[in-house]
Amino acid sequence: MNVEIVVLAAGEGTRMRSDVPKVLHEIGGKPMLAHVLDAARVLQPTAIRVVVGAGGEAVRLCFAGQLDLVWVEQAQRLGTGHATLQAMPAVAEAATTLVLCGDAPLIESDTLARCVAESERSSGLALVTADAPDPAGLGRIVRDGRGQVQAIVEERDATPAQQRITEINSGIMAAPAKLLKRLLAAIGSNNAQGEHYLTDAVGVAAKDGVPVVALKAGSYAEVAGVNDRAQLAAAERLHQRGRAAAFMHEGLTLLDPARFDVRGDLRFGRDCSVDVNVVFEGEVTLGAGVRIGPNCLIRNATLEDGCRVEANTVVDGAHIGANASVGPFARLRPGTELGADVRIGNFVETKQARIGAGAKANHLAYLGDAAVGAGSNIGAGAITCNYDGAAKHETRIGDRAFIGTNATLVAPLEIGDDAYVGAGSTVTSRVGPGDLAVGRAKQRNIKGWTPPARRKRQR
Ligand code: UD1
Ligand code: CA
Repeated sequence: MNVEIVVLAAGEGTRMRSDVPKVLHEIGGKPMLAHVLDAARVLQPTAIRVVVGAGGEAVRLCFAGQLDLVWVEQAQRLGTGHATLQAMPAVAEAATTLVLCGDAPLIESDTLARCVAESERSSGLALVTADAPDPAGLGRIVRDGRGQVQAIVEERDATPAQQRITEINSGIMAAPAKLLKRLLAAIGSNNAQGEHYLTDAVGVAAKDGVPVVALKAGSYAEVAGVNDRAQLAAAERLHQRGRAAAFMHEGLTLLDPARFDVRGDLRFGRDCSVDVNVVFEGEVTLGAGVRIGPNCLIRNATLEDGCRVEANTVVDGAHIGANASVGPFARLRPGTELGADVRIGNFVETKQARIGAGAKANHLAYLGDAAVGAGSNIGAGAITCNYDGAAKHETRIGDRAFIGTNATLVAPLEIGDDAYVGAGSTVTSRVGPGDLAVGRAKQRNIKGWTPPARRKRQR
């Protein structure tokens, strides 16, 4: 197969009402165009030409460094046929051209391969169609009495009878390059929008006796196009439901696949379980038997075997050791490394923090730019004062240390193994191994104290 792919991405996306080019709007945390390109690359085409409009700079920039892409400019937005034509001069005559839309992100590579194969088998035009539950706004597939495809009619140009047709054009089409060039040259712009329609190539081909094959996509969902924000949301849900189904098939328990979102890559071991409203972003790896409670955000993180993340927790850029437990209501920020069996409880925030095996910070603490040794205990309200307004400083706490409630640890600071810090202490200098630091005002009791209210009455 010698396939050259043309991706149409020069539309203005008017209906999105956005300053962001339509194809850069995201599905599953990734630009729509990136999804289309991923599917395209599976076919190992000899070229991928992406047609962008004037002002396509943002699109190019987003894909800078992807050297397999050839950018083609369509200076004026004169229609899908015109857009395709801009790319055609560079396409090898002997290639099979596959035209894709940058705004149909859910297409699967298998369907694309079938489309190319049909074009090559018949030396004709192959297009991907689907039965749409609601065909409004889409091009309809017009067939003759024998079921042969005769033309594609756009909604605006369709008769009432044609508007009742539910088989729609996906926008995906394959044809020998030489044929497509000839068909596109024969198309006018005599339609409701005065545009040069790629879809008219089908009518021209049918009239010329060129074979036209329509093959159905696996489902309508696969070809769903995005023209406005409602369709963007619909495509997002279809994408997420598809991923959820695939993950469940691979052995992941999802308490509700309708309330589950992945924006990136998720890998998992056996018997992991994810409660409702959990969002995964970036690269996330779960070991075996990991359990994630409801309403959590897990971003760019590795959670080793047996970890538990309780409700309403944010894990971002963290590595969590085996059997550790985090949350509810905890926030692990980038650079957090928790050893095995660590416990991080409610309202604890960590950042650039290495917490040794079995250490605990069960409530209301901030550990930033800190190292905490194995088996240490961080009391409620303990804070590392890591920032002096200009620079960040480190706090190093040894193994088995005990940091009392409401301790204020002013960095840079070192606290040795087995050291103690008394509750309420403000610690500004090194605490040696096994030592107790008490840094707080000494308690004073005043005998027979008369409160002001009683004093007033006595007067
Ligand atoms: C198009 C099809 C329609 C099909 C539908 C599927 C035509 C005339 N209509 O309609 O049959 O059912 O897709 O979703 O082809 N584009 C350019 N340059 C242009 C115009 C468009 O690059 O001058 C690009 C757009 O960025 C988009 C794609 O072509 O990626 C389709 O254009 P759009 O305006 O969205 O066409 P639809 O009305 O959706
Ligand atoms: Ca469209």
